[in-house]
Amino acid sequence: MNFDDRVALVTGAGSGIGKAMAVAFAKAGARVVVCDIDAATAGQVAAEIGDAAVAATADIGDDSSVAALVETAVSTYGRIDVLCNNAGIMDTMALPADIPLAQWERVLRVNLTGTFLVTHAVLPHMLRQGGGAIVNTASEAGIRGAAAGAAYTASKHGVVGLTKSVAWAYAKDGIRCNAILPGPTMTNIANGATFDPTGSARLGPVLALGERLAQPEQMADAALYLASDAASFINGAIVPVDGGWSAA
Ligand SMILES: NC(=O)c1ccc[n+]([C@@H]2O[C@H](COP(=O)([O-])OP(=O)(O)OC[C@H]3O[C@@H](n4cnc5c(N)ncnc54)[C@H](O)[C@@H]3O)[C@@H](O)[C@H]2O)c1
Repeated sequence: MNFDDRVALVTGAGSGIGKAMAVAFAKAGARVVVCDIDAATAGQVAAEIGDAAVAATADIGDDSSVAALVETAVSTYGRIDVLCNNAGIMDTMALPADIPLAQWERVLRVNLTGTFLVTHAVLPHMLRQGGGAIVNTASEAGIRGAAAGAAYTASKHGVVGLTKSVAWAYAKDGIRCNAILPGPTMTNIANGATFDPTGSARLGPVLALGERLAQPEQMADAALYLASDAASFINGAIVPVDGGWSAA
């Protein structure tokens, strides 16, 4: 898979799956915009990649921050061929009756509205260029009710719906949009998290079934394929990358 002369914008690229995606796209020849809300990690990853990367600090849940992000990408590289909407946060596993409104709004704002805001800002550039590929990082919680708490589950189902909407709307414009559904993956997403006791007790036994952990690079490989010309007729696909967990 060759991304020479292409530009990839990856959100949440300071850590975990997004970092693996940024490194993989650069290795495949792309120039990469390494976006994260954490300026330090975005800078570290861009420095690791070297000349082919630029760091961009942005909060995907804030529209003016997203506007500045896309401006940085376009003013630096002139175009955006690949968008990986990957940044996301967990909830506390709280069940529907127990989740505080503030937590619901924060998780929806980042995971769903953030994915929308970056897509909304990048699409005009892809339309102007005559094409592009978007890969959204959803989750098993985007197709199942027992993989996370209420907010994360609703947000990732929303990402699946948005993926299909974009795929359908722009199929004739040369823009493809697909989603990966990672199973449990070795990243920093649960670092420092506190979990709701009721939700954890209910969800724990189900989540234990998916305890075979993936490496972030295995998610990046799937994203690379979906963004590549090898997947030129794959559009609107919701692809589990979970070693068979969701097949049970
Ligand atoms: N790790 C898993 O088991 C798993 C499973 C399914 C889905 N996912 C999804 O994978 C994606 C990547 O998560 P990860 O596991 O690599 O976690 P991670 O915490 O290692 O990386 C996520 C990155 O996103 C950044 N981020 C958070 N909020 C942001 C914001 N508002 N704007 C910009 N950047 C922001 C963080 O600073 C962090 O660097 C998320 O969407 C997550 O929901 C992860």
